[in-house]
Amino acid sequence: MTSNELKPIIIAIDGFSSSGKSSMAKALARTIGYRYIDTGAMYRAVTFYAMTSRLIAPDGTVKEAELTAALPSLDIDFSLMDDGQHTMLNGADIESRIRSLEVSAHVSTIAAIPAVRHELVKRQQLYGRQKGIVMDGRDIGTTVFPQAELKIYVNAPAEVRAERRFKELAEKGVETTYEEVLANVRHRDHIDSTRAESPLRRADDAIDLDNGRMTIDEQNAWLIEQYRKAALK
Ligand code: DC
Repeated sequence: MTSNELKPIIIAIDGFSSSGKSSMAKALARTIGYRYIDTGAMYRAVTFYAMTSRLIAPDGTVKEAELTAALPSLDIDFSLMDDGQHTMLNGADIESRIRSLEVSAHVSTIAAIPAVRHELVKRQQLYGRQKGIVMDGRDIGTTVFPQAELKIYVNAPAEVRAERRFKELAEKGVETTYEEVLANVRHRDHIDSTRAESPLRRADDAIDLDNGRMTIDEQNAWLIEQYRKAALK
């Protein structure tokens, strides 16, 4: 099989938080030479903006009208650095700040606001115009690209995901406990799957990947196989 038999496609990878979606999406994009878009990072960037602009109170109350008015002026982009892709907001590198527990604690609230979703979905669809893209999130196969040629729905038990996230945070020196991380994962699962606007839902034509028991290498090989099948059709 030569690579020019493969047509450029859109690959949508959806699933719960900390299911390993981003790592697998990134690895796949790198291997097949596709662009990778982390849509969670876009919701995190808006959350970061809302927090630093005092549009969200510590109790989670959001000044929705003000945030909605500010959305068009937010320039959210990705920049390739030595250690990977960094999220940029109005030219500033906010990559490490959007991964904090504070942003994680508020992001589901911000991502449930219809005006925020409409704006970000519109921007995500623009990224897909040329195809050749791997996008991960919650609603990519259902709302952003219902026509995507390949849709993967990733799942793993909340405990497995919390364990992974806890290790990741510990490696970064973030002080937290496994119980705190598990509570955050469960809280986000609940909001992300029960919100009125584009809840996390498996697309009918998605392929399931339960990666709780797969090694990273097995997962990557499996994904490339799915890509080849979809791009050959
Ligand atoms: O993938 P992540 O954990 O970085 O995503 C952060 C939050 O953004 C998550 O709680 C749900 C939300 N999100 C969303 O609602 N829709 C997407 N397409 C991506 C993320």
